[in-house]
Amino acid sequence: MWAEKEYRNLARLEKVGIPAPRPVGFEENIVVMTLLGGNGMAAPQLNELEGGDYAALSKMVLSALRTLVSRAHLVHGDLSPYNVVVWDKKPYIIDVSQAVLVSHPDAARLLENDIRNIAAFFELKDVGVEDYYRVGADLADDVKQHQKESLVRPDLLD
Ligand SMILES: Nc1ncnc2c1ncn2[C@@H]1O[C@H](COP(=O)(O)OP(=O)(O)OP(=O)(O)O)[C@@H](O)[C@H]1O
Ligand SMILES: [Mg+2]
Repeated sequence: MWAEKEYRNLARLEKVGIPAPRPVGFEENIVVMTLLGGNGMAAPQLNELEGGDYAALSKMVLSALRTLVSRAHLVHGDLSPYNVVVWDKKPYIIDVSQAVLVSHPDAARLLENDIRNIAAFFELKDVGVEDYYRVGADLADDVKQHQKESLVRPDLLD
């Protein structure tokens, strides 16, 4: 079941143009997706990257995060430098099997965690992360709004 969920989430990312592996198919507990990398070598995770342009990567990750919440209506839920791989100087979001819709009761808490984890990484690389907290607060408002709306049952309104 999680394989189907990961497949579906990857498809949602693809639909809004977030850089991520492209979903190919799933069966039982296997998701097939495109390999990020070249010559049969997997691209490194953000945490194992050496000498990258972290300021540029940070901007691109934040942009992906913003699109993820505002257009794919998903919160990653396990965003960290382990779940971002870097290829051709660009970050790709992976490991979306646990991502939840913004209407999920835990979405706001998970989003806050995601922002904290990824911002802490870039901060260690001496990148200013105020934008993460600013955008994060805006996105958290969006998420809370979605949650309020999902609590409004049209069938209970008169
Ligand atoms: N499409 C991909 N292209 C290149 N590398 C990938 C891809 N998907 C996953 N990887 C690599 O495999 C690692 C594990 O993948 P993923 O994060 O999806 O699984 P996980 O559930 O976190 O597994 P584990 O905790 O056992 O590492 C990633 O951190 C990344 O290095
Ligand atoms: Mg992972």
